[in-house]
Amino acid sequence: MKNYTSINDIDNINNWIAEAKTLKESPLKDIELGKNKTLGLLFFNSSLRTRLSTQKAALNLGMNPIVMNVSGDAWGIEFGDGTVMNGNTAEHIKEAAAVVSQYCDIIAVRAFPSLTDKVKDESEYVLNAFKKHASVPVVNMESATGHPLQGLTDAITISEHAKTKKPKVVLSWAPHIKALPHAVANSFTQAMQKMDVEFVIANPEGYNLSPEITGDTPIIHDQNEAFKDADFVYVKNWSSYDDYGKVLNTDPNWMITKEKLGDAKFMHCLPVRRNLIVEDAVLDSDSSLVIEQANNRTYAAQLVLKKILKNL
Ligand code: CP
Repeated sequence: MKNYTSINDIDNINNWIAEAKTLKESPLKDIELGKNKTLGLLFFNSSLRTRLSTQKAALNLGMNPIVMNVSGDAWGIEFGDGTVMNGNTAEHIKEAAAVVSQYCDIIAVRAFPSLTDKVKDESEYVLNAFKKHASVPVVNMESATGHPLQGLTDAITISEHAKTKKPKVVLSWAPHIKALPHAVANSFTQAMQKMDVEFVIANPEGYNLSPEITGDTPIIHDQNEAFKDADFVYVKNWSSYDDYGKVLNTDPNWMITKEKLGDAKFMHCLPVRRNLIVEDAVLDSDSSLVIEQANNRTYAAQLVLKKILKNL
């Protein structure tokens, strides 16, 4: 594998899950594989889990991780072709990506969407510019439209906790005060579509994800109906896709409560706003898998880096 930028880069999700579980049992077994190799982590946006778990994964493989907050610390990067650079940008992605490629054997990038320009966001211009102008493999640490490290993590976590052959998994929208990206929901949907699960999405009217992502997955606008017999409820807020980037609904009735959850396991990628997205009683109960999900971020990243290292 050269790059990991989408859930579609996973050829066989069941094999990947099995490999990740093996890594989790012996995290240091490939410590020689990444010796003298450098992972560059470039953050255009904030992070706790991705930043630390991807570094941890690199260290488990014997790699040297180096990290930069691009938005705060680097020169402003220009992505436009042929731009007269007389504005706020000081360095073109052509030079920036080429230079970073000399310091790093793999480059990992986090760059969120604007949520104001759908066409530009969907072009994935930051991630694709790195893919185009870097001479080393690129890993997506959450881009405008996808968070494939999180999607892989969530598939691993569901596989670990599934009690039936074909569990019912619900992706549910929950309220939030800010406009949030679609990336986590998109990648989770794509991961579930590759797994042997009964998968449905619950969201209010006006909040359907891109039809290119949801495909044939049932979308239900009644949360209680969707939660019936659920084994896993994966919760995430996202802004409207049709009315792009807008917050159309903050109805607290969509918040996840212990009563609504029933016997299902609760999942969220974190960070999560307590008592807005989900009540304390859920997060503080044995039903919550959020800490285990965060732990699995390391093994998902480690698997991806391992596959790329083996191909260098
Ligand atoms: N889930 C996730 O990506 O967390 P961070 O934004 O903290 O990296």
